[in-house]
Amino acid sequence: MKRIAVIGAGHVGLVTAACFAKLGNKVICVDNDQKKIIALKKGIIPFFEPGLEELVKKVVKKKTLSFSFSIAESTENSEIIFIAVGTPAQKDGEADLSAVEAVTSEIAKAMQGYKLLVEKSTVPVLTGEWLKRTVNLIKKKNVDFDVAANPEFLREGSAILDFLQPERIIVGTESKRAKKLLAELYQPIKAPIIFTDIKSAELIKHASNSFLAAKISYINAVSQICEKVGADVNQVAQGMGYDSRIAKKFLSAGIGYGGSCFPKDVAAFVHLAEENGYDFNLLKAVQKINQEQIDFVFKKIKKCLWTLRNKRIGILGLSFKPDTDDIREAPSIKIMEKLLSEEAILQVYDPQAMKGVKKIFPELTYCKNPYAACKNAELLLILTEWEEFKRLDLKRVKKLLQKPYLVDARNIYEPKRMKQLGFIYEGVGRK
Ligand code: UGA
Repeated sequence: MKRIAVIGAGHVGLVTAACFAKLGNKVICVDNDQKKIIALKKGIIPFFEPGLEELVKKVVKKKTLSFSFSIAESTENSEIIFIAVGTPAQKDGEADLSAVEAVTSEIAKAMQGYKLLVEKSTVPVLTGEWLKRTVNLIKKKNVDFDVAANPEFLREGSAILDFLQPERIIVGTESKRAKKLLAELYQPIKAPIIFTDIKSAELIKHASNSFLAAKISYINAVSQICEKVGADVNQVAQGMGYDSRIAKKFLSAGIGYGGSCFPKDVAAFVHLAEENGYDFNLLKAVQKINQEQIDFVFKKIKKCLWTLRNKRIGILGLSFKPDTDDIREAPSIKIMEKLLSEEAILQVYDPQAMKGVKKIFPELTYCKNPYAACKNAELLLILTEWEEFKRLDLKRVKKLLQKPYLVDARNIYEPKRMKQLGFIYEGVGRK
């Protein structure tokens, strides 16, 4: 049993805190947002993540997880401190590390004995060096500490499973004591632990996320060629994926990647490379292709409807991917901006994300169910591959639509079947 503090009650922080508590450690989760902490103490989770609410309630009841506003108090009561605060992108792509610095300074002020500070947020390489410098400048002379980088690879929507059953655990540290502490902490999790130096661990996170983003842009580029030559991108991806060097995952063509991680992390990696004298052209192309997928889908809509003014469009799916209410950098927001700028009328449905979208576009019609979003629409647009959309009564959908146009920006339906049902169907890279 270790005494742990997790600073930051966002997606990564809260999942980390709850999962370490589940493993039997004594965990305090800290956030400076008082409202959030008050809500968490009552068992209210500020975002949707399958299974998290139940888990938090369980470990709070067991008293292995508690919440606090105070970094000082939680520093005093813990040996390992995970830093999981936000590192948003600035305009030029550089990660904003001011929250990391502020938290580190507060920890350093409060340190009375040995502490291990662990970077959990996605941070650029050399952040570990800055952490050491900051703590050294502030801490009392006779107090020891170590720094480690332990990047998190959890995905929204399957975060608990990803935390408890990861494919690998990365621990970057130069200290034997820190290595031992983290090896013991992760001992109950059955996964290989890869020990590296701090800078390499920091780079592994950026390099991994950017690689996955590149895989998506690659298949999206292939989807464009498929359309031009009359091939099917799903068949191409399947054929490629059987090669274990390529692997099947992250080869789904569509409207491109979004979310709080890939767009930000790719931009940060490009920026970091530039700062260090390397022009990361490959990743710049990845970004460009991702942007172009939005235009590509938009053009498909225009190809069907010609002009958009006062045309009613039904939209299914607003979150950046299924099983989350997250709309950060969601392709839906970008394409809806375009549709609204040409005065289309949008009626939308999403099982979780409508509340967030309402704050950005209060003027849309928010529907109670997917069928309501289809009613009298001149075109139906699928933007997120929620399971419930795959099981829709498509005959009913067809009847509800004013015109049978269906633009499936996530390739959830089979083109042949859709055509048989009488839809004028447009997937991405499919024939
Ligand atoms: C991503 C990584 O997958 C995690 O390993 C990482 O820990 C996390 O970022 C992070 O840095 O915190 P996440 O952003 O939750 O996780 O979502 P993903 O499941 O990776 O999907 C990202 C985007 O790519 C979504 O918009 C999704 O629709 C899109 N995508 C994914 C595709 O367009 N095609 C695919 O084949 C796969």
